[in-house]
Amino acid sequence: MLEMMLHPSEFHSQIELHNHLTVEFTESLARDVREGLNAGQKHLPSKYFYDARGSRLFDRICTLPEYYLTRTEMKILEEHAQTIMASFARGDLVEMGSGSHWKICRLLQAANGTGGAHLRYVPFDVSKDALVKASRELMGQFPQLAIVGYVADFTIHLHLLPGGNRRLFLLFGSTIGNFPEPEAVRLLRNVQEIMAPGDRFLLGFDMVKPAYRLNAAYNDTQGVTSAFNKNILNVVNRHLHADFNPALFDHLAFYDKEKEQVEMHLQAREPVTATIADIDLCVELAAGETIHTEISRKFTPESARVVCSNAGLEISRWFSDEEGWFSLVELALSRA
Ligand code: SAH
Ligand code: AVI
Repeated sequence: MLEMMLHPSEFHSQIELHNHLTVEFTESLARDVREGLNAGQKHLPSKYFYDARGSRLFDRICTLPEYYLTRTEMKILEEHAQTIMASFARGDLVEMGSGSHWKICRLLQAANGTGGAHLRYVPFDVSKDALVKASRELMGQFPQLAIVGYVADFTIHLHLLPGGNRRLFLLFGSTIGNFPEPEAVRLLRNVQEIMAPGDRFLLGFDMVKPAYRLNAAYNDTQGVTSAFNKNILNVVNRHLHADFNPALFDHLAFYDKEKEQVEMHLQAREPVTATIADIDLCVELAAGETIHTEISRKFTPESARVVCSNAGLEISRWFSDEEGWFSLVELALSRA
């Protein structure tokens, strides 16, 4: 649904916004909550962290001293944006899970040498608030930029993206790590299927590193990650008329070396009973029982290569920081 077009008079650019999550969001949340909270190990999909507050909390996480991911990826982008954009002077920058404007800004600044006038920005995010806020910030900085935003789920709605132009797909932040291997391959495969031969895909991977660094990154001393984790209960409360009390849960996050992933849970401090009125469900948790809310996989060069090649994508360029903490890979369609 084309929800609105913003033409603020002080800018030359415009935002065209397509919202595909109006009714569908609550329906899929209801399905996922029913399925996840009836399971043996209770779980909720991490995409539900990101309401307006969740997106703001994630932005704060990005600036935390312990959360090295954002500043490391930004540094890589600063160093290589020129190289990346040199071969992409015109077309669509399609950013999946776009969140804030910081990273795309780097690419647009690098493209400014060519005027940036032939580029269109296509942010794609479940968080309407984050998408609109980021688009407005960009309009201020790049008055000529055309923006076509999609409030949509990139695991479901990628086929709705506009075609016709050359495209550089972007998935920053190691968001790919929030998916188990089969789902990660499926997501990349879905992108691969809509890519044309000249298109490119820039994909971020957070790499395996010592456990103490990872544990610190997901257990910050200011408690922002804890608030972010608990916010998923607020989302369930608001959309499904539930009565979870987030204060009865502890934030639990730990790196599992064997699985090469950080797991995030909400752990009941005491026996908890909650009612989810809209789906007629009463949930009981024993003291110490957890709701699994997120995985954040960490990659080796090999496991990053495997997930890409299983999706029919070939790594053409590999950008990294000095310590090898984060990788940004440029992908093209594998040659048949
Ligand atoms: N790209 C930004 C934000 C990463 S946070 C960065 O690198 O810092 C993950 C982002 O993906 C959030 O903005 C969240 O709203 C969005 N997101 C999570 N799951 C999604 C899904 N299934 N479809 C679309 N967007 C999603
Ligand atoms: C969005 N994603 C890559 C973040 C991550 O690091 O897995 C989400 C996050 N969870 C806790 N802190 C940040």
